[in-house]
Amino acid sequence: MAHRIAVIGGDGIGPEVTAEALKVIAAAGVALELTEFELGGKRYLRDGEILSDATLNQLRGYDAILLGAVGTPEVQPGVIERGLLLKMRFELDLYVNQRPFLGTAPGGTVPHDFVVIRENTEGPYVGEGGVLRKGTPCEVATQGSVNTRMGVERIIRHAFGEAMKRRKHLTMVHKTNVLTFAGDLWQRTFNEVAVEFPEVATAYNHVDAACIYFVQDPHRYDVIVTDNLFGDILTDLGGAVSGGVGLASSANLNPARTGPSMFEPVHGSAPDIVGTGKADPRAAILSAALMLDFLGELATADRVRAACVEPVSGSTTEIGSQIAARVAG
Ligand code: IPM
Ligand code: MN
Repeated sequence: MAHRIAVIGGDGIGPEVTAEALKVIAAAGVALELTEFELGGKRYLRDGEILSDATLNQLRGYDAILLGAVGTPEVQPGVIERGLLLKMRFELDLYVNQRPFLGTAPGGTVPHDFVVIRENTEGPYVGEGGVLRKGTPCEVATQGSVNTRMGVERIIRHAFGEAMKRRKHLTMVHKTNVLTFAGDLWQRTFNEVAVEFPEVATAYNHVDAACIYFVQDPHRYDVIVTDNLFGDILTDLGGAVSGGVGLASSANLNPARTGPSMFEPVHGSAPDIVGTGKADPRAAILSAALMLDFLGELATADRVRAACVEPVSGSTTEIGSQIAARVAG
């Protein structure tokens, strides 16, 4: 039976790269039943909808959501991000943001292969805090980081599970020397869950040190688990040291499968290159491969990944067609 997929192409280059991802899956012979949802900055400017509860409830009925990129310069920062992307992550309980990095660091020769598992529903992203005396010299703004035992424990347990499927090495990244309350909760939880996974070797890095290792020694990593904001920043760096953000893919997972998971490239809508054919569709194609993994189409997902490793050239659609030809053959 065909997998039922909600497609949100979004803004900027989002629809272009999503079309190539769908082209590749079709060529690989996996049947998808697609429903397009026009959401994002453009839609918001047209009729005010960002993501209504009615639309959200419609999305709940799909097997997965494939997203291109959302956001447009005409809409102020935060509106679409919070109202659409973060709303989906929070409301669909997509608590795992899994971002694989397979590539060679600039100047390096041997490719590394690690995955960052980013907590996706808590931390500074929840919107805790507020502002007082706005616009005055005495303005006060606070933005707290929310960390729950349940939230921290479930992401850490998921990360140990992923480490068991790989090279059995898990690094926690945080800033326990400064963020002593949240860091302590993370560290204690990590130590306790580690007891359940005696085969997994563990390590800890402060986030600033991890930035150095990402550049100078990425081979030390297998699986990394970290909080929402550290994970956001580290995964851009991960992309930069793994062939560029044009290759960086991500899965926003609800491992309990109480609803659809969402798959999207790490990059944004890049309005400056829309329509030029310069957008690299591989991040979207590799995100679609993560979707195939989650849908149980493991062999096809591996074929798509292998096709993305071979050199590509040309425009967005030409690259998509090259990869499609490889998976079809
Ligand atoms: C990402 C993006 C988002 C994030 C933005 C667009 C809200 O940067 O998926 O990494 O910060 O999570
Ligand atoms: Mn980001």
